[in-house]
Amino acid sequence: MPDRSWEVDLDHLESLIDDRTKAIVVNNPSNPCGSVYSKEHLEAILEVAERYMLPIISDEVYEYAVFPGHKFYPLAQLSENVPILTCGGISKRYLVPGWRLGWVLIYDKNQAFESEVKPGLIALSQQILGPNTLVQGALPAILANTPSSFFENTMQVIQKNAEICYEALLRIPELKPIMPCGAMYMMVGIDIPKLDGILDDLDFTEKLISEQSVFCLPGKISYANYLKINILYTPSGSISYHIKKHVNFKKRKKKLNLHNSSCICFTNICYNFLQKNAEICYEALLRIPELKPIMPCGAMYMMVGIDIPKLDGILDDLDFTEKLISEQSVFCLPGKCFQYPNFFRIVLTVPEAMTEMACKRINDFCKNHRKSDA
Ligand SMILES: Cc1ncc(COP(=O)(O)O)c(C=O)c1O
Repeated sequence: MPDRSWEVDLDHLESLIDDRTKAIVVNNPSNPCGSVYSKEHLEAILEVAERYMLPIISDEVYEYAVFPGHKFYPLAQLSENVPILTCGGISKRYLVPGWRLGWVLIYDKNQAFESEVKPGLIALSQQILGPNTLVQGALPAILANTPSSFFENTMQVIQKNAEICYEALLRIPELKPIMPCGAMYMMVGIDIPKLDGILDDLDFTEKLISEQSVFCLPGKISYANYLKINILYTPSGSISYHIKKHVNFKKRKKKLNLHNSSCICFTNICYNFLQKNAEICYEALLRIPELKPIMPCGAMYMMVGIDIPKLDGILDDLDFTEKLISEQSVFCLPGKCFQYPNFFRIVLTVPEAMTEMACKRINDFCKNHRKSDA
């Protein structure tokens, strides 16, 4: 509710719950509203969840991104009985979008997630995907060593930008900015009838970019007749600060240049590792009658042929990979992406134990879909 600091309309929330509802999603601090919920409001949401016996998925990726005078409460700290999955990550707090590192924390005093959700999360986190391993390695140092002044400076810049936007937009009679309390966005109401030749918020933002080259998102996605302004400003040097401090790329690069032999050694280790993984995959998949792996000679991928007619309920390679991820949590790209129908692609960069587990799951998948007459 915009006029109540974007609090959730609890009656509306309750009216949406039915027997198909699996969980309540809470995003605090919020994208796009910039709201930061009070302790009392979070407790009221928890009360609804408890009454309907629903778990909560709490997206707290903007944790601590709050302006002075407001306080962020991790939802799990307030929960007595409601099981909570808290999602966090480094992209917002450290101003590093694109570094792709996040986490899910499980709060589950009564073991409600034990039998299905926990194994599901483990399976999902073990898909054959390429995680950002460099940043994963740097994460303990990032969390432990970033001085609090970095966050204070960031929030000062964002708050200053919010105030500049708020004061300037308040003077425009057709707009109604809502001052955020945190995160890095501001929602602005538009009085459409007061504007000539503007149909709605989508039309407003389309014309705004074509006439003034200012890009904002229309509220249409969730709040009609609003526009979302991104008030983030990356303080100069913040990204290089992190690269220098935590990953130490520059030093590493120098070292590699100075010691050419260690560079060659590193490359050898990489290629030995990739070749070993390729051999593990090749041998394991060769034993599956419906698959025909092709041993690679380089790069970090393996293509695997699929004998589709031998599999029950599988239409083609796209269907194969879609069902493989939903049934076994193994993510591979279908050959279709590369104009190689009836193949799928495996990435060979994951640790040996995970490669073995993925092959075992691919085996289980083919076994489950094997035609009875095969
Ligand atoms: C509310 C919210 N949650 C999660 C994310 C995902 O963050 P990332 O994928 O950069 O870690 C975003 C990104 O915009 C977001 O706004």
